[in-house]
Amino acid sequence: MTDPLIAAAAAARAHAFAPYSQFAVGAALEAADGRIFPGCNVESASYGLTICAERNALFRAVCEGARSFLRVAVVTDTEKPTPPCGACRQLLWEFAPDAEVLLANLRGDVVKYTVGELIPGAFDQQQLTARRG
Ligand code: THU
Repeated sequence: MTDPLIAAAAAARAHAFAPYSQFAVGAALEAADGRIFPGCNVESASYGLTICAERNALFRAVCEGARSFLRVAVVTDTEKPTPPCGACRQLLWEFAPDAEVLLANLRGDVVKYTVGELIPGAFDQQQLTARRG
């Protein structure tokens, strides 16, 4: 049976707005309180304004008051599951360093990581507080 978090990411993927890349991505975050926050990628004609599915889900969750997360799922229609981009790894690290990452495709392949494994030695608040001068 499909993990409900992966199912939520797959459902969000159906709403992706990706007319430029044709690369639809769905994500879903599982908050510590059990809530699930889905997100999809939303592209812009000026390309750089595009928001990825993972950050869309994260910002949505934060807007709803969630700050602690156990898992995140990412779904694409690719031969192998797709890893999150660097920007999304950074943001996930800042909110959910220990979260489990489930990368899935529509064939049912699932690859698991933790956020920390995907962004070793990340920049975060610790560096800001350790500054000299
Ligand atoms: N994309 C995501 O939504 N998440 C990622 O982690 C990688 C890339 C989106 C952004 C853009 O709309 C499309 O995939 C192609 O880069």
